[in-house]
Amino acid sequence: MKLGIFDSGLGGLLIAKSIRNRMPDIDMIYLGDTLHVPYGSRSNEAIYDFCRRAVEFLFSKDCNLIVIACNTASASALRRLQQEYLPEHYSERRLLGVVVPTLEEAVEQGAKNIGLIGTNYIIQSNIYEDELQKIDPEIKIIQQATPLLVPLIEHEGTKWAQEVLNDYLEPLKKQSIESLILGCTHYPFLKSTIQDIVGPDITLLSQDEIIPGKLEEYFQRHPEISEPIGRNASAEFYVSDITDSYQAAANSIYGEAISIQKTEL
Ligand code: DGL
Repeated sequence: MKLGIFDSGLGGLLIAKSIRNRMPDIDMIYLGDTLHVPYGSRSNEAIYDFCRRAVEFLFSKDCNLIVIACNTASASALRRLQQEYLPEHYSERRLLGVVVPTLEEAVEQGAKNIGLIGTNYIIQSNIYEDELQKIDPEIKIIQQATPLLVPLIEHEGTKWAQEVLNDYLEPLKKQSIESLILGCTHYPFLKSTIQDIVGPDITLLSQDEIIPGKLEEYFQRHPEISEPIGRNASAEFYVSDITDSYQAAANSIYGEAISIQKTEL
């Protein structure tokens, strides 16, 4: 068996890499739905359909656990896949999202006022607040949509990010937040700019730093899932659309040359 990691595009390679660093020998398969990225501007039904096909692909490749590294997919499709699709088709396999583990980390750190930045979809879905209510209704979450960040990152426009971020982060800075969740796979690329703007007293919660540890905890609680996963350090990378620039971006995000293969989704 293998560990699957799925994102709407290539940003999730950062999470794949951080999982690889934490678990150097785990057998894993990455799938980026580059044909349909960005998910953030799609309908719920379309996102569900893309995710179901992605999950089917990774299960057909022998994954018994899939980390849905995409916030948008975690917000829109994860619950339905867990509640409807898994019991009917793959009752022994599991899907994990990124929203709940990120909130758990924020709460464990003791924050009482948490900031969140995310795509329009994530903020409008209110998923972070809804899930936080279940963990601890006393804790406040202050949300700010930052829709220009993904296009800036995707189109080599990060030199303009500082100005855009100054504007986006101003209201959050006034709310005396103790930590700030970077609620999108792309945002870790702007970590240092964001930290400079919010200052050293606000802890950034970046999913590439959080998910590997949470996955390890999950494995400890669920040996029936972790033990069948092979430990031969294999890694396969699939995308639903491939170009030279995707290959170059994949190498750069993963931090080493990797071979990405195209698959139909
Ligand atoms: N991967 C997505 C997320 O984390 C960002 C890009 C998209 O909208 O697909 O929300």
